[in-house]
Amino acid sequence: MRIFSGIQPTGRKHLGNYIGAIEPYVQHQELGEAIYCVVDLHATTVPYEPARMRESVYDTAVILLAAGLDPERCIFFRQSDVPEHTELSWLLASVTAFGDLNRMHQFKDKAGAQRDLVSASLFTYPILMAADVLAYRAQQVPVGDDQRQHVELMRDIAVRFNARFAPDAETPPLVVPEGAYREIGARIMDLQEPTRKMSTTGGTEQGTVLVLDEPKTIERKFKRAVTDSGSEIVRSPEKPGVSNLIEIYAAVRGIGFEAVEAEFADARYGDFKGAVAEAVVARLTPVQERYSELRADEARLEAIFAAGAEKARAITSQTLVDVRELMGVGPRSSTRL
Ligand code: TRP
Repeated sequence: MRIFSGIQPTGRKHLGNYIGAIEPYVQHQELGEAIYCVVDLHATTVPYEPARMRESVYDTAVILLAAGLDPERCIFFRQSDVPEHTELSWLLASVTAFGDLNRMHQFKDKAGAQRDLVSASLFTYPILMAADVLAYRAQQVPVGDDQRQHVELMRDIAVRFNARFAPDAETPPLVVPEGAYREIGARIMDLQEPTRKMSTTGGTEQGTVLVLDEPKTIERKFKRAVTDSGSEIVRSPEKPGVSNLIEIYAAVRGIGFEAVEAEFADARYGDFKGAVAEAVVARLTPVQERYSELRADEARLEAIFAAGAEKARAITSQTLVDVRELMGVGPRSSTRL
């Protein structure tokens, strides 16, 4: 099984990202052929600081490496280093319906929040995302639930491409990928407003635990976490704060909710919060240590990206030969499908 996923460049990854995305990426390396990229080109679709971009890409890459991503066992690269993504994106635009792009929730949300320019690339963002995946003929796309519409669109694009340009092919040239939507960690909530998802853009500062927060900061954020009336440590819709802490503890310790409730049956809220903080610190400290070590050597990171891009291009260059041939673009290729 070949899986592909992209991650936005930002050094401010939080605990929800860590539990919900970063750790699963690391685990997926064992399951099959895993391909991951840091999507710097997607990050140019909204206003950004050019001087910070490269840094953010490094920060993100190093968090992934520190968490256990092994460039020997997966293909790991920076999106803009593999030009086939952008070329395929243009070619696939011809089988993408304008009306479908116009219905994308993420576009509407981000466009609505924009103070100045709403860029055309924000609108065509989902086509580049489709190209990211389809260039590798990946079968599975692990993503957050908020990306469902984008995955559905990339499936439609693949189906339409195959029907339009290879209606009689025994093996369709593009693989129609499946979304694999996150369950664990998908519900990590803001510690101050436990009815909202933890987020570096929409959440509260004190309620968002960053992967790179100092242990003291993490302890303080958990100590001040909002809990609910009553004193029982159980999961319940009336107790969003306590439920969230149970969810976090279960995820970082790798145990079930019932086991957490049993472990803290006689504990007070304060003790429980301390235990959650301790578990989170224990989980993140080794990552932070490796982070500092790896982040200092940018030349080494560039070497990792270069090696990853080379492996990636070995796959994408063949897809582009096939797609150009089928679309009648450029000279005839000698490669047969
Ligand atoms: N749009 C995705 C997000 O915001 C990131 C992304 C870009 C992606 N290209 C991708 C995810 C390809 C999966 C596959 O999370």
